[in-house]
Amino acid sequence: MTTSAHSDLDCSGCDAPEPIEGNYFVSSYPPFSCWSKEQLGAAEQALQHSAARDEIPLGLYLHIPFCAERCHYCYYRSYAKPTRDQTDEYIDTLLTELTNYSQAPAVAGRAVDFVYFGGGTPSLLSAAQIQRLLDGVKHVFPLDTAREVCFECAPQSATDDRLRVLRDAGVTRISLGVQQLNDDVLAKSGRIHRVADVERAWSQIALHGFPVVNLDLMAGLVGETDETFFASLARILEMGSMCVTIYLLEIPANTPLFHALQEHKVEQPPADWDMKRARLRRAFEQLEQRGYTIRSAYAAVRDPERGRFVYQEAQYHGADLLGVGVSSFSYFGGVHYQNQASLDRYLHSVDEQGHARLRACELSDEEQMVREFILQLKLGGARAATFRDKFGVSLAERFAAPLSECAQHGWLTVDEEGVRLTREGLLRVDRFLPTFYLPQHRNRTYW
Ligand SMILES: C[S@@+](CC[C@H](N)C(=O)[O-])C[C@H]1O[C@@H](n2cnc3c(N)ncnc32)[C@H](O)[C@@H]1O
Ligand code: SF4
Repeated sequence: MTTSAHSDLDCSGCDAPEPIEGNYFVSSYPPFSCWSKEQLGAAEQALQHSAARDEIPLGLYLHIPFCAERCHYCYYRSYAKPTRDQTDEYIDTLLTELTNYSQAPAVAGRAVDFVYFGGGTPSLLSAAQIQRLLDGVKHVFPLDTAREVCFECAPQSATDDRLRVLRDAGVTRISLGVQQLNDDVLAKSGRIHRVADVERAWSQIALHGFPVVNLDLMAGLVGETDETFFASLARILEMGSMCVTIYLLEIPANTPLFHALQEHKVEQPPADWDMKRARLRRAFEQLEQRGYTIRSAYAAVRDPERGRFVYQEAQYHGADLLGVGVSSFSYFGGVHYQNQASLDRYLHSVDEQGHARLRACELSDEEQMVREFILQLKLGGARAATFRDKFGVSLAERFAAPLSECAQHGWLTVDEEGVRLTREGLLRVDRFLPTFYLPQHRNRTYW
């Protein structure tokens, strides 16, 4: 689950310099520096409050924080080379935490609409462990109501035995981290897989017939050129997966790549934002020529109905999300909260208190409205009727000044239907979202 957002924007306008380093992808609001221990009581209240929330979709996020190796650019919470004992203990704790949440008054008895197993690398678990994990989840929350069950895989561990367990257990969406199809670029990023691993994984996944397969690519990796990027994309287009996601490389300060750049240890620094955006622009054009529809700021889908990404769409429209696992993020009853961010503290907290909540942020009605508006812009636009019915606001009036400013840049249009981003707007949406923030959040950081 991507959880960052860059912070060095002067949000009073859209002309601030592009960040060279720093986070960029906005996935929550208000920014993390507004979250605090003091607001944890609001999370507890939301979970205890049993007022009917049945009409609000409920999703689960399970974080598996283990990888074979750490990639140089990665900012996700994960630990390399776990032992079998560590992963076994972690699964036990995850299931304990989930069971405890299932008994909270505002959760008990509710049907689950979507589930996401993210990492780290969930496919690093063995087939037997994945079976145990899925059985354990189903024991607590029957998944037959879920419209989507998504599981993240890395190419080397997307093996036949694991995929069989996933398919039999009802996983509907596999997301495979390809990043690029060039061995030199993969090696320079510290990826352990090579092109041949992706080809093998792709054939195996195809054999199991998952309803949706998403391939993650990245633009802007060390060693990447137009040639390596578009040759990768050409092969991805031949594969014809239902979804293709293209992330633009972010280099937050907690990554080895950030430090290597600071110490001038990278021979050829990665592409700047203009270059990354130009690659994404051309990639979107090529995907459209092949019949794909651009679904969001970073993703294309071959069939917009069959290839929907419920996890993202539901969250961006205000669904409840219960996150479990180290450092996981939740949004429940209008309250954001995050779990303990270190493995030891997470295990200890669940053991001692039954949960591992670390910090929270209670949103006012207005903050919930702003949150949904900015998140929906990442899907290409927001409907006026949705906001009128749900929040009683006119988008055109409420956001008149920033909408006019962004429209002058050619990034969006506004009419009675709502707000629609242009392609140029979509390509830089994360950069101008803070223009729509409440004044007190505009200069707040995401860490
Ligand atoms: C949790 S990983 C996916 C599964 C698996 N761990 C893997 O990498 O193959 C989610 C995705 O985040 C993207 N990602 C990771 N670090 C990133 C960064 N610094 N900037 C942009 N995208 C990043 C990658 O495309 C990756 O596939
Ligand atoms: S990109 Fe994926 S495999 Fe690499 S360290 Fe991050 S979570 Fe692990």
